[in-house]
Amino acid sequence: MAREFSSVGVVGLGTMGAGIAEVLARSGLDVVAVEVDDTGITRGRGHLEHSTARAVAKGKLTEDDRAALLGRVRCTTSLAELADVDLVIEAVPESLELKADVFTQLDKVIRPDAILASNTSSLSVTEIGVHTSRPGKVVGLHFFNPAPVLNFVEVVRTVVTEPDVVTDVVAFARRLGKEPVVTGDRAGFIANALLFGYLNHAVRMYESRYATREDLDAAMRFGCGYPMGPLALLDLIGLDTAYEILESMYRQSRNRLHAPAPLLKQMITAGLLGRKSGRGFYPYQAPDSPVVV
Ligand code: 3HC
Repeated sequence: MAREFSSVGVVGLGTMGAGIAEVLARSGLDVVAVEVDDTGITRGRGHLEHSTARAVAKGKLTEDDRAALLGRVRCTTSLAELADVDLVIEAVPESLELKADVFTQLDKVIRPDAILASNTSSLSVTEIGVHTSRPGKVVGLHFFNPAPVLNFVEVVRTVVTEPDVVTDVVAFARRLGKEPVVTGDRAGFIANALLFGYLNHAVRMYESRYATREDLDAAMRFGCGYPMGPLALLDLIGLDTAYEILESMYRQSRNRLHAPAPLLKQMITAGLLGRKSGRGFYPYQAPDSPVVV
């Protein structure tokens, strides 16, 4: 019988985790959201409040529905509160050590039949799954940023993921209003494997002063019809996240296309992380606000 997944846990409430929690709560699901400390919870709640307030301002959500949505997300710093959920979606930063540690801990607290999904963008789901006693119940469930807007997910099956787990997670993704594709466990899956070489190339063009940031972005927006240019998209993704994804793909494939452009590292060291820090390739008035140049 297909699994219902009526209560879901989210671990990590950064940009992606908070967006995923919003998607789940919008679908009427009860969400237990875990962060490492109160600061993380406050930041995650802030994401949710900001995003849902925007939906109210645009007339897409009533104040009552917003309150109900926010009420469905219970935030905690204790993984033990995930004991009764049917599915956990992990969205902590892109580090294999960190994810392996989280999966080891989750494996001990959740029900034996519960499913573990990772929102990893570029790490091996297989390597994450082997840190549990249930690798057959581990999948990748990769959302795209902004998760509440982009109606696409990659469902990543490893060589040991049980086929019914894949089928049920695909059905669940559809229930969330997402169009799922199933992919094998290779670095960057489908979309990031194609996207990040292009983004990295744009940074290299920018750092060699080949063109201005505005002209680079305009070329792809107006010349190719992309919704955003590559540098603006990197600001949306977060330069630290983008760097980790490139590093991870480069480590796995040794394809020079994915060797992170040096400028990325310099900007991260200087605290220019993109929208979330108020400045990346462009300045922003406040986190998540539009470009002000
Ligand atoms: N959270 C929630 N909703 C958001 C949002 C956010 N961060 N940003 C925009 N929205 C909503 C707006 O409220 C608006 O909703 P409405 O249509 O219901 O009124 C809608 O999205 C469109 O937004 P805007 O009118 O403000 O602006 P745009 O039309 O320029 O769209 C965009 C903004 C959706 C970000 C669009 O530019 C876009 O799709 N850009 C490309 C994003 C992309 O490529 N993402 C993939 C990144 S790679 C990735 O995520 C993989 C990972 O592993 C790193």
